[in-house]
Amino acid sequence: MVGSVLMDRMQAEGDFALIEPLFFSTSNAGGAAPAQAKNEHTLQDAFDLKALRRCDIILTAQGGDYTAEVFPKLRAAGWTGHWIDAASTLRMADDAVIVLDPVNMPVIKQALSQGGRNWIGGNCTVSCMLMGVGALYKAGLVEWMSTQTYQAASGGGAQHMRELLTQYGTLNASVRSLLDDPKSAILDIDRQVIATQRSLSAAETANFGVPLGGSLIPWIDKDLGLGKGRDEPGWGMSKEEWKGMAETNKILGQGDGFGSPAVPVDGFCVRVGAMRCHSQALTFKLKKDVPVADIEALIAADNAWVKVVPNHREATLHDLTPVAVTGTMTIPVGRIRKLAMGPEYVGAFTIGDQLLWGAAEPLRRMLRILVEA
Ligand code: HSE
Repeated sequence: MVGSVLMDRMQAEGDFALIEPLFFSTSNAGGAAPAQAKNEHTLQDAFDLKALRRCDIILTAQGGDYTAEVFPKLRAAGWTGHWIDAASTLRMADDAVIVLDPVNMPVIKQALSQGGRNWIGGNCTVSCMLMGVGALYKAGLVEWMSTQTYQAASGGGAQHMRELLTQYGTLNASVRSLLDDPKSAILDIDRQVIATQRSLSAAETANFGVPLGGSLIPWIDKDLGLGKGRDEPGWGMSKEEWKGMAETNKILGQGDGFGSPAVPVDGFCVRVGAMRCHSQALTFKLKKDVPVADIEALIAADNAWVKVVPNHREATLHDLTPVAVTGTMTIPVGRIRKLAMGPEYVGAFTIGDQLLWGAAEPLRRMLRILVEA
């Protein structure tokens, strides 16, 4: 799925005009390459190290298992090209940069000048969040941030999206006749819906493990267990929650490995029944009292894609929903307001298409940076 979105974006931006692509497949080697192929029109075997070694740059959206299998072998075989992927496998490695160039171009340039060759897209919630409110970090204003996420089914993959929609259909079908009757009692409908949700089969919940349609799941990715402190695995966090602080700071070039303090980032990551936009409610403790108008101006000026949504009902309903944002490159940031806890406490809400800025876009932009370097 990310690969398809990536191809669309590369096509739309004219990236193929700048490269001679060689296409690989893990399942269809020998098949026909996409229309963007130039001299070589056959799909190569994605596990063929000899074929991979011909490439100056390898860009893959295949996933972590593929990276874990192929990347070390390629490097061990002496391949010195640039590797770009979106998997978490290499993200925290010392010699890897998490790429999000509108936010961390200086970090990318610094690594390039030092011979960096591993460029990894970040976790989707982190990338979308920083595209929205990175300005506050760049200005050194953030003392800490708490994030509560509302993550779409697409974060799990294509099968998860299908499962969600199938569940919605099953729920609807189970109360169809009651819905068609305007005189039916809503509590009867509700009773039938919960009965249906609770009786969904293992096959109907194979991907999420429990029903997601009409429900939510406050746990994403692995259970890190109960360590004694933040630096030990665990502390009751999910791996998705752990990534929030680790990746935010690494993207910004601060914290562990950069000789500067990390900004604390923590909160809860929740799967909801949205299709492909990840949303987040953010709480900031700023280092000083900054007027809301100044915060909005900073955010709005940060990059070409962020859009401040005025904090009123009409604009919020129009511009600040997954439905409004899906399929667009826009990162809206709205609900920006001071919170009751004090003048340094600021709330905001932001949304991003998980497959665009959350996955494909930082990769194709890194390819452009390398090609144009
Ligand atoms: N871990 C994310 C999610 C996906 O499950 O929503 C991509 O970073």
